[in-house]
Amino acid sequence: MKHTVVLTAAFPSIAREILAGEFDVVEHPTEHERSEDELITILAEGDGAVTLLSDPLTRRVLSSNPHLRVVANFAVGYNNVDIEAARELGITITNTPGVLTDATADLTMALILAVTRRLIEGDAEVRLTGRCEWEPLKLLGASLQDKRLGIVGMGRIGTALAQRARAFGMEVVHHNRGGGIPLDELLSTSDIVSLNVPLSKETRHIIGRENLGKMKRGSYLINTSRGALIDEAALCDALESRHLRGAALDVYENEPEVNHRLLSMDNVIIVPHIGSATEEARTAMARLAATDVRRVLRGEQPVNRVV
Ligand code: GLV
Repeated sequence: MKHTVVLTAAFPSIAREILAGEFDVVEHPTEHERSEDELITILAEGDGAVTLLSDPLTRRVLSSNPHLRVVANFAVGYNNVDIEAARELGITITNTPGVLTDATADLTMALILAVTRRLIEGDAEVRLTGRCEWEPLKLLGASLQDKRLGIVGMGRIGTALAQRARAFGMEVVHHNRGGGIPLDELLSTSDIVSLNVPLSKETRHIIGRENLGKMKRGSYLINTSRGALIDEAALCDALESRHLRGAALDVYENEPEVNHRLLSMDNVIIVPHIGSATEEARTAMARLAATDVRRVLRGEQPVNRVV
């Protein structure tokens, strides 16, 4: 009998193309928030699935369908998956590392440039006034040359960011579980701190009130990893008091909600989780995810196994 693969969102068409020849493919529209019950309902028909990073793949969801053999999470991060439960249930979980590294590092660099050079404020001014008025003291930002970038999490994306930052004349330091400088030192000496570490029990709120207080006065915080690395309420306080000069965020603590206090701050850049959003990266992610589902349903080893 033909296996069925559920796509929980409208992914790039290559995913369907790879799967359709061999399996029945059921594609669902993209939902930004899906409850466990909704996910259980749509996964019920699948032997395999390609899922969104916002799909809650909890123990309850994973154990609801005894036919489910493989879930390819369309993301490099897999904090939405109960890994322990998947292991116990014998469900293979895969992710999409590597192919989104450059796109995400590019976006991180773009956010660093945008927040330090106040691009959004400048754009808003020109749109509002319809004029371009040069002034010696207008929209002064910060130069990157000789500034220190502190990267928390020197994995694939952190390393790619470091290369870019060095090309802009920055000094790069990092903190990792296994190396680099201590986090306290990184926070107190960096002009810009970028979070590039995965979300886990250990890293949740790694930037809370206390660590925000340790950051250098007038520094910037950038996050293109997962929102819950930051205590968002504490960040808002640090921005309002101008202890931090600015922040640039691609991810939020309670997606799809964004803390309303951020919306009115002119020293914050907020974009909607678009780190990997290039045609090239998303197509490659779809290819990896679909290929791994196909491999597992054929009885082969997946390339990007998490569990
Ligand atoms: C996106 O956030 C990803 O983890 O790929």
